[in-house]
Amino acid sequence: MERESFIYKPKIVVIGSCNTDMVVKAGRLPVPGETVLGGTFYMNPGGKGANQAIAAARLGAEVTLISKIGYDLFGLQALEIYRSEKINTEFIFTDQKSPSGVALISVDSYGENSIIVAPGASRSLSTEDIDKAKSKLEEADIILMQLEVPIETVEYAATIAKSYGKKVILNPAPASVLSNSFLSCVHTILPNRIEAEMLSGIKVIDEESAWRAAKAIGEKGIENVVITLGKDGAYVKEKEEYTMIPAKEVETIDTTGAGDVFCGAFSVYLSENHTLTESVEFANAAAALAVTRMGAQSAIPYKREIAL
Ligand code: ATP
Ligand code: RIB
Repeated sequence: MERESFIYKPKIVVIGSCNTDMVVKAGRLPVPGETVLGGTFYMNPGGKGANQAIAAARLGAEVTLISKIGYDLFGLQALEIYRSEKINTEFIFTDQKSPSGVALISVDSYGENSIIVAPGASRSLSTEDIDKAKSKLEEADIILMQLEVPIETVEYAATIAKSYGKKVILNPAPASVLSNSFLSCVHTILPNRIEAEMLSGIKVIDEESAWRAAKAIGEKGIENVVITLGKDGAYVKEKEEYTMIPAKEVETIDTTGAGDVFCGAFSVYLSENHTLTESVEFANAAAALAVTRMGAQSAIPYKREIAL
């Protein structure tokens, strides 16, 4: 008889976008007004919400994704993918009037990218949709969110999650101005350099400026701040402790979705009761693997691949 295994899977609810990524790799990114010739065109599943949900699922969590797609082929294809990743799709709603989200992505020869998102149906993910999924928020260990869906919806979900005593993890991407009352509902914020500058007014160029930015963001009412610094790793403020945690050195092919893998991995490890620093080390290792591969979701590693 086969033995059942009773390994606890943390429950993570991700609230965010589902996109289809249209990607072209080129020697360098064009400057405004310029056309450059690129390489092959790829169409990949993406979206910060979906990428983070898949990262959390591949790294061992039981994941519910709360999102909105259009009534179109991209949306249906995305649903199939999430089901194959064993993500609960019960709260992926359909907007009959808008197309599914699309992202236009250029990647240069160093693996750096620039992205424009046409959010489509993501724009109509509403507070009423969050109400429909309240029971899932109540069951969750962690609620993970980004800003490709309306900010009112994210703020509403954060307020409910806080009232349930849940940990809210916020990846404030794309960069936006956020109110202190919203930030006070957040357990850990995970901005990249650009988002950290938007939140703190401090340009993050080295460890000293990362310290100043993390401190300034913390003063808005958040205990824990993790600024991701690309190939340099991440700068951590955990309550009153400040630490730089370097990235793994790897050959970089495409950084698209590295931040999403980082957020998914961080959330899984934290929900397994690891410390914040350990969770950042795990996230660095997972994201380093992702940058060695092309695409967003196609690059997301599985738990068995991560070497700490
Ligand atoms: P993206 O928008 O490209 O998905 P991001 O801007 O949100 O990413 P980054 O700070 O660039 O986030 O990267 C997130 C994490 O990914 C880093 O903290 C690091 O752990 C890892 N990472 C990114 N680039 C590299 C790299 N070149 N080598 C190793 N690790 C990397
Ligand atoms: O973080 C990477 C993601 O940002 C891409 O998959 C794209 O869809 C945009 O949402």
